[in-house]
Amino acid sequence: MPIQAPPPPPPFIQLHHEDRAALRAELVAGLLQIPARIAPKFLYDALGSRLFDAITELPEYYPTRTEASIFRQHGAGMARVVPHGAILLDLGAGSCVKAARLFPVLRPSAYVAIDISVEYLRDTLQQLQKQHPALAMMGLGMDFSARFALGAEVADWLADGPAAQAPRVVFYPGSSIGNFNPGEALALLQQAHAVCRSGGAGGGLLIGVDRLKPRAVLEPAYDDALGVTAAFNRNLLLNVNRVLGADFAPAAWQHVGLFNEQASRIEMHLQATTRQAVTWAGGERVFEPGARVHTESSYKWQPEAFEALLTQAGFARGHHWTDAQGWFSVFWAPA
Ligand code: AVI
Repeated sequence: MPIQAPPPPPPFIQLHHEDRAALRAELVAGLLQIPARIAPKFLYDALGSRLFDAITELPEYYPTRTEASIFRQHGAGMARVVPHGAILLDLGAGSCVKAARLFPVLRPSAYVAIDISVEYLRDTLQQLQKQHPALAMMGLGMDFSARFALGAEVADWLADGPAAQAPRVVFYPGSSIGNFNPGEALALLQQAHAVCRSGGAGGGLLIGVDRLKPRAVLEPAYDDALGVTAAFNRNLLLNVNRVLGADFAPAAWQHVGLFNEQASRIEMHLQATTRQAVTWAGGERVFEPGARVHTESSYKWQPEAFEALLTQAGFARGHHWTDAQGWFSVFWAPA
């Protein structure tokens, strides 16, 4: 029997290059605000990403397993409306697990895994390529939260490949859209719409969105009994110390996860337990006991309100699937 050559490794393109000076300037501006804020992206250093993975396994954190159950239960319905043979663009791909589970359902002709750094994607994508040798794959390092557009290099790769005229399907699971405020979410959805429209006819967006539900379910999901979310939140201070050369003492900060009903969002804060003078090169901020630093918002959407946002972004009305409790929604929005 002839020995099959292994598939060549997928191409990797890094479009985003970390600008340490800009990160430091952003941190200082946020720390000097009243009240202070630190952007949620600082939650995700190497340890923070592992802590987030642990959060997804907690009994209180329902979104991950609820979304997975929707994909399991409604895969056949999704296969009927999402075009086969599409280019699947996976936003925030990470371990690529969620998209890979959909390969048999959606049967894409190409897979583009997008995350802030191709280094996160390299090993996973090389393994995935071996399991799916016929599927064209690419890793793309891009900060799509700042701006989502496929650059010339990606367009060239797509134009040269077997899927040149294929529809583009943007896949954005996990309710990560909830970590943007409604204005920012609209801007990202508009950019996703433009990307979907730039391919063959039939493209669209497949997106997971967490829904509004009682406080008694929401708050424990962001303040669990084991304290994993608290560790995830406090770990951000270690990351800030590293990036900014600051001297936050994580043990002196308490995790707060609360539901702000008026704004329809969970808020995560860090609250000073004693008076803290935090310093960094060229700056200082004194925090009185009880002072808070806002670290993340996680918006919870009513399905009708999210549908209206999709329409505003340019998408047509498509399909919507939910779980038995109506806790989470997956939308297919044709472009
Ligand atoms: C990544 N994102 C959708 C999570 C969420 O639920 O907003 C982040 C998270 N923060 C605390 N727990 C999980």
